[in-house]
Amino acid sequence: MQTKIEKISPLSALAIKNIDEVSQNGTDFLSFREKLSFANISHPEKKMEWKGARIAIKDALDCILLPYPGFYKDENGKSHPMDGYGHVSMTHTKGLAAAIFHKEMPVGIDLDYVREKVVRLGPKFLDQHEIDFLGNDPLINTIAWSAKESIFKCQGRRGVSLKNNIRLNPFTLEDKVISGRVENTEFSDHHYKVKIEWQNDIVLTYTVW
Ligand SMILES: CC(C)(COP(=O)(O)OP(=O)(O)OC[C@H]1O[C@@H](n2cnc3c(N)ncnc32)[C@H](O)[C@@H]1OP(=O)(O)O)[C@@H](O)C(=O)NCCC(=O)NCCS
Repeated sequence: MQTKIEKISPLSALAIKNIDEVSQNGTDFLSFREKLSFANISHPEKKMEWKGARIAIKDALDCILLPYPGFYKDENGKSHPMDGYGHVSMTHTKGLAAAIFHKEMPVGIDLDYVREKVVRLGPKFLDQHEIDFLGNDPLINTIAWSAKESIFKCQGRRGVSLKNNIRLNPFTLEDKVISGRVENTEFSDHHYKVKIEWQNDIVLTYTVW
């Protein structure tokens, strides 16, 4: 997938980074706490993915002229700005990292490789109605998986299940934005719009407002 830095609106931006390209970049911009977290990651590839995601956030923030505040994780693993302003989400996978920032609204972003096995795994993250409209195509099933992960990250609570609590409205490969909602939780009836992009075997999804 092509790397990019995109201003979505005056309040929101995203960046996709190629991890090889940022491997030589410095980490001076990280907060003290983030530098400690970074130092504690022992797996070299995971370390570069973690760093790539933070460089992606920094680029997204630069794009809307905001300083990098440093981020901390809550008890669910979701990151928040240390200065309390705005919302962030990040994702990283083999070779790529991406992040999205919004000044006012929660956000979720996810990157996934298209894999044949996602169709077989369908019953673990889809209900029967979703399985019926998605069919057996790995691309559209990966989009469904990724969109649910983006909604999951946007809402942020661990107990929410992709299969039982996140519903997608029917969509096709023609759709650029799809919709979904969280149901059967105390935060039911939250509705989400998810932007879909794919290139070759990579799918990117992120929530939009
Ligand atoms: C947390 C989860 C969304 C991470 O997704 P992933 O595909 O493994 O990894 P990604 O690279 O896309 O995202 C990782 C980032 O998600 C973020 N994250 C972790 N927990 C989060 C949460 N509760 N809310 C929001 N974001 C979260 C972190 O920033 C993390 O990056 P970091 O470790 O560098 O800080 C995923 O593991 C998960 O729990 N999914 C939903 C649960 C589920 O139902 N799974 C099984 C269904 S079969």
